Amino acid sequence: MSAKLETTFRGDTAQLERRISMREKLTPAYFEREREKIFRRAWLPIGHASHVPEPGSYFVREVPALKTSLLVVRGQDGRVRAFHNACTHRGNKLVRGGDGCRKSFSCGFHGWTFSCEGELRVVTDEHQFRDLDKGALGLRPIHTEVWEDLVFVNGDDEPRESLTEWLGDMYDEYRGYFDQHGRVASLRINVKSNWNLAVNSFTEGYHTLYLHRNSVPDYQGGRINPERHRPFMQLFKRHHRYSAPANPEHRLTAAEALAVKYGKRIIPAFGGEMPTLPPGVNPSRYEHWAFDVVQFYPNAVFLFGNNWHIEIFFSPIDVDHTEVVQDLYYYRPRNIGERVSHQFFLSRGRQVFLEDMNTLEAQHAVLSSGVVGHLQLSQQEMSLMHHYKVSREMLDE
Ligand code: FES
Ligand SMILES: [Fe+2]
Repeated sequence: MSAKLETTFRGDTAQLERRISMREKLTPAYFEREREKIFRRAWLPIGHASHVPEPGSYFVREVPALKTSLLVVRGQDGRVRAFHNACTHRGNKLVRGGDGCRKSFSCGFHGWTFSCEGELRVVTDEHQFRDLDKGALGLRPIHTEVWEDLVFVNGDDEPRESLTEWLGDMYDEYRGYFDQHGRVASLRINVKSNWNLAVNSFTEGYHTLYLHRNSVPDYQGGRINPERHRPFMQLFKRHHRYSAPANPEHRLTAAEALAVKYGKRIIPAFGGEMPTLPPGVNPSRYEHWAFDVVQFYPNAVFLFGNNWHIEIFFSPIDVDHTEVVQDLYYYRPRNIGERVSHQFFLSRGRQVFLEDMNTLEAQHAVLSSGVVGHLQLSQQEMSLMHHYKVSREMLDE
């Protein structure tokens, strides 16, 4: 058998801990520190600007880590803004949920009405109010920036870093990538697990040979890389990414062969020539590349492939509960064959996702009981070491 593939590491690998103590991380007091020092100070991706295409288009996103609901809306001036989804009269939730397009937003409680730019426009029975400063009673904004179609918010009073600084070297490396795909499905699961464990489940490839042995048995590694070592891993100041290794000898199943006959390959999306992709996708230009995994610290993990990408958002509800939303984006189908082909990859993707979710409740129960007090991490789990290092730094700041 051939030699084992050695991972190429890039970035600052100093001060990584291989043994991570977990028990105190799973306490309510620790979670409150994470909320204030990590979630309030981070730039958090919450959706796409293209999901609010017209002036007045909006969507609502619950962000329990910031104890808020956000209303993301495109103003008549074309700018995308996010506001706390709360009426300034007596705090009713302004929009119950979902998405749509409106000229203005009226509160269902007493009818106060706000513009798409957040100004308070109408106070019903206004002359009954004394000394009301309408100009100061617009919707409460939250710092909002758009990067490559992704809408980020920052819950700090004044962000300590701009979004450009927060994304660092990754900022320029994904130009145009998101525009190539459209959202085809969204899966949402509430799991009784701490958010850190949920994120960790998606940022290492060590498990793929075992946890996904039935659903996708041979799509990674193969004879040239039987342990499925990641060919490339890179640590940034906050974020990190790695590439997953394709198995060049992957055998198409009968259903998969039909799916790639009538559509494009999704996962694994290889077997042809190396596609033209922005420099951030397959950054080492590894020959047998399958896809990349990128963690946007703290709580978003994106998988970047050719013809597809997946966005996973881990939203902590409290120390013991996390809402996980997985949005799948594929190339835009041009005919019925490609649409049917999508369905094959969607159903298999759902199975893989459920396998990833399936260890979390047991892990959470064991680690919070203290029966197992530490994580023991291999080099292939360096992303987890980095995740906890960044958390240490932010909690100490
Ligand atoms: S709470 Fe919204 S109008 Fe009264
Ligand atoms: Fe997995």
